Amino acid sequence: RVTDDLFVVSNRQPYRHRYDEAGNVVTDRPVGGLTAGLDPVVQRVDGTWVAWGDGDADRAVVDGDDCVRVPPDDPSYTLRRVWLDDEDVEGYYYGFANQVLWPLSHGLVETMAYDDDHWAQYRAVNETFADAVAEGVGPDSVVWFQDYHFGLAPRHVREQAPDATLLQFWHIPWPDWETFRACPVREALLDGLLANDLLGFHVPRYCEAFLDCVAACFDDATVDDRTGEVHRDGETTRVRAFPMGVDVDTIEAEADACTDEEWTDFAREIGVDPDVTLSVGVDRLDYTKGIPERLDALERFFEDNPEWRGELTHVQKLSESRSRIPAYGDVADRVEEAIERINDRFGTDDWRPVVRVDSHLSTTRLYGLYRHADIAIVSPIRDGMNLVAKEYIAAQTGDPGVLLLSELAGAEDELGEFALSIAPYDTASFAEHIETAVTMPEEDRRERMANLRAAVAANDIEQWMSDIFGEAQAVRQAHDR
Ligand code: G6P
Repeated sequence: RVTDDLFVVSNRQPYRHRYDEAGNVVTDRPVGGLTAGLDPVVQRVDGTWVAWGDGDADRAVVDGDDCVRVPPDDPSYTLRRVWLDDEDVEGYYYGFANQVLWPLSHGLVETMAYDDDHWAQYRAVNETFADAVAEGVGPDSVVWFQDYHFGLAPRHVREQAPDATLLQFWHIPWPDWETFRACPVREALLDGLLANDLLGFHVPRYCEAFLDCVAACFDDATVDDRTGEVHRDGETTRVRAFPMGVDVDTIEAEADACTDEEWTDFAREIGVDPDVTLSVGVDRLDYTKGIPERLDALERFFEDNPEWRGELTHVQKLSESRSRIPAYGDVADRVEEAIERINDRFGTDDWRPVVRVDSHLSTTRLYGLYRHADIAIVSPIRDGMNLVAKEYIAAQTGDPGVLLLSELAGAEDELGEFALSIAPYDTASFAEHIETAVTMPEEDRRERMANLRAAVAANDIEQWMSDIFGEAQAVRQAHDR
């Protein structure tokens, strides 16, 4: 345990309080791999999690310091809320974070929409968060920033707490220099990130790309590619890869908790015949997730393999996300059209090739769905890691399924050997891989899944945290010397 004084800083909060129709306060868990992955970790460590209070009942439950203990039914750490007004949210969250850093980091420069006012709001909100953190931080504190919403906050905290240990994990890809140089405020961002003692990415490629950007941007920085250290202006930042894992034990338990009876009820409720071969996809409705590309491949599969009509259903769970941004509206339209087209073309009175699920699923149902799925399709056109791939594997406690995994996801670095790797834009070959997956002999499936499960179990969320905190301890000791 590296500290008794941990601060976690993320944009999205792990628990949101809102009013239901009857006016009672209820708690929600926001979607997205980051908060779901980190919550069990912080529960074990205790500490303070600082995040944007975006729920309509959030203010009603906090104390005078804007704090509330969570999880609600078993309080084990403090959630400190930061309040943002509409203009902040527009510029910082929808603007700079999600229309500059998100597309840029995913290599989609043409989707980027830079605006000076958004950048000013991003700077201001980073200062607001930094001030909220710095109030409670001492020399023995460890502050752990999450993701691309906080490119500048580490610099502000560093100014106020020079001896604290600052860490950051960047949960999305880091682009190469030729892409990153399109960012008009690249130097300020790199300077902010270099205020950390330790900066983590999912895979070594992103670390190398980050170090290249630092070397290209700053004449006064020394980059040591061997140790992954940057020296600049009397500061040292260690840059390292920590591939994130999932909470394997909990997922297995939840998958097993979904009894055959509950699964059958659930399948019927969503209009799926529990006896057909089942394919699953679970995504935030984001243009990086390759959902239209997946649907194109499924359409081609049914076109080329008429014997599978009536025999395979793809359940696509979608969670609405950032939908005020035009590029998100566009992908939502494309997905809706594609599902309609495939269902019109091949569906019959008692069978739909694609079943879309938009409603919230309990964890038992979600992991039960994974467990019963014969194949899972994870096809991002770019993804930092993709934890859905790992969750699917962790939930395969029964008859082993097959994972189709995009070669453009960070997870492919660890899992590519035993998953079926797909190129999401190559529709014909993608469709062939679906056929390979649904016809794979049991012995093959067993062997692949056993290897995948071993890889996911060996690097679970606990291991991830202990690697990061172990490294943080080394950084601290180097400090103390
Ligand atoms: C990705 C990001 C997270 C984010 C999540 C959900 O996983 O890395 O930082 O929380 O998407 O997106 P949202 O914008 O709703 O927080």
